[in-house]
This record gives sequence, C-alpha cells and structure tokens, in this order.
Amino acid sequence: MTHSDSEVVLRTVGLSKKYGRLLALDNLNLEVRRGQVYGFLGPNGSGKTTAIGLMLGVLRPNAGHVELFGLDCRQHLATVLKRTGAIIETPAFYPHLAGRDNLRVFGLLSGEVTRKMIDETLDFVGLGQRGKDKVRTYSLGMKQRLGLAVSLLRDPELVVLDEPTNGLDPAGMREFRGLIKELGRVGKTVFVSSHLLSEVEQMCDHVGIVKGGKMITQGSVSALLHREDGLEIKVTAPDRAVGVLRGIDWVRAIRRHNDHIEIDAPVSRAAELSEALANERIYLAELRPRATSLEEFFLEVTGEGDTA
Ligand SMILES: Nc1ncnc2c1ncn2[C@@H]1O[C@H](COP(=O)(O)OP(=O)(O)O)[C@@H](O)[C@H]1O
Ligand SMILES: [Mg+2]
Repeated sequence: MTHSDSEVVLRTVGLSKKYGRLLALDNLNLEVRRGQVYGFLGPNGSGKTTAIGLMLGVLRPNAGHVELFGLDCRQHLATVLKRTGAIIETPAFYPHLAGRDNLRVFGLLSGEVTRKMIDETLDFVGLGQRGKDKVRTYSLGMKQRLGLAVSLLRDPELVVLDEPTNGLDPAGMREFRGLIKELGRVGKTVFVSSHLLSEVEQMCDHVGIVKGGKMITQGSVSALLHREDGLEIKVTAPDRAVGVLRGIDWVRAIRRHNDHIEIDAPVSRAAELSEALANERIYLAELRPRATSLEEFFLEVTGEGDTA
C-alpha cells in the first residue's frame, strides 16, 4: 500500500446510472487523491446520492465503474468498504442507550473496536462529555456527529458523507464543517456532497461540480476561484493608472470602479504591472488575483443560482 500524496483513492470511470428512462448519472469521471477534502457540489437532483450509492456498492451502474484504492469496487467490495467510512443517512440509533453504548453496538457489528477507540472517536466528534447520556436526549446535530463517529470507528482512510449538514441549524452546520476540516487535517481523504456552494467553499480544498448527472468541472477550490487571467488593483491615481495600463500590450481589458481597477491580464505579470505603474509614480494600495466567488462560478458553469 502506498501513501504518496498523489495516490488516487477514489475514481469513477465513465459512470452512468439509469432509473427507468431517466439518466441520473451520465458518464461521470471524477478523481479524489489521498488527503483531499473533496466537495461533490450540485443542485438537488443532480445525481450526488446516486453516485455515492454506486461508490459504496449499494447500486449497480449501467455503465462504467468505481475504483476505491485502485480496486474495482464491485469486485472487491468487502475489502474496499473495510477501508471506508460512510454516512448516507443518519443511522438509526438506539435512543434508550447512551451514545457511547451505541458506538459499542456499531463497533461490535463492524469488528474489533476497543474501548479506547470508542472514547477517542467520541472526543473527536465533540461528544466526549455527553457519551454517557442517552441518545434520545441528543440534538439532531449531536446525532449527526454520533453518525460520523460510527463511520470513523475503524479509522478509515476514506470518509464518504452524503449531505451531512442537511437539516442542521446554523450552529450545528458550523460544528460539522469544522469536523470535516479537522478530518482533512488529520490526513483523512474526505468525499462530501453538498448543494450549498458556500459550505463547499468553506470546508473543501477540491470540488467537482455536477449538474444533470454530468460533471461540469473539477479542480482545486483555489484554482477555480482565482482565475489565472485577472488582477484587481487599488491605486493612488486611478485616472493616470488607466492611461498607463492602456499602453501595455498584454493588458487585454480594463474596468474601473472608482479607485479599484479590474484588469484582464496574466497573474504572472503582476510584478511588471506594479513596476510600470511605479515608473509613473503611481502606487498600489492593493494588488491581488481577481477572485470569483464559487457562487458566481457555479452560476456561470451550471446556469443556476444557489439552490439552498
Ligand atoms: N430510486 C430512484 N428511482 C427513480 N428515480 C430516482 C431514484 N433515485 C433518484 N432518482 C432520480 O435521479 C436523479 C438524481 O437523484 P439523486 O442522485 O438523489 O440526486 P441528488 O442526491 O444530487 O439530489 C433525480 O432526478 C431523482 O429524482
Ligand atoms: Mg442526495
């Protein structure tokens, strides 16, 4: 088993799924590498749950296949699932049992799980203090975190979560996002679906955008947000700056908003740009790659707004 950063942990190859005549997934190709926190972003009905069901061997594809850890998921289902933790729906807990006793039950079902593993997992999801309380006293957010604990019990390499923050209040969502980021920090590979752009932007380092069962685009969140061809500056003398910028042949377009100027130009020429302005005694108060919010980007690529 290799642990290089570039190892592909999860891959779908030409994955398609039909329900009757409805093509719910259409030739989906995606790739998640070890250590990534990958957001699978798409509006409701775009095929996210279907894709996850195929990844976990719950559904059978009409075409294509899923590889987990380089193994075909249908041929090696038991092996790959041992290395994977997942929540598709909030698991049904025993409400009259304590949280930690529920973990014991799920731990027994899934093989050798020690008391220490249970306590560590409870601490990780922030239920260390509430582990002895009955689950019927838990809030939805706590139940959802207990669900995450179940998926983490056997210390999986890959964690697959289908819209885990659905139905949580803002505080519960924030806690859960924090946990997902923490999973990334401790080296887990995380695949998490969401229809909320801002959420993916906050918790993921990579994103795949899906619409109508098709992958629209995927890549690192920062690369998708910071396009390589735009700069934004704030200068001391915007009128004169516009004049100077017009004289530079690799500046393709300029848009001025008071003292802010948006420039279509390669980010790699930022230093030259600042030098050209400084030569005319115009000084930069700000210079940055032009950021596109994921929301704006999502709208652009899917032709839809936030479906929250
Ligand atoms: N069991 C099913 N039978 C028929 N159609 C389904 C079934 N499950 C999902 N669909 C349809 O497939 C499409 C994708 O659904 P789904 O994978 O649940 O999307 P998402 O999780 O992104 O909301 C939707 O149009 C949905 O109505
Ligand atoms: Mg779904």
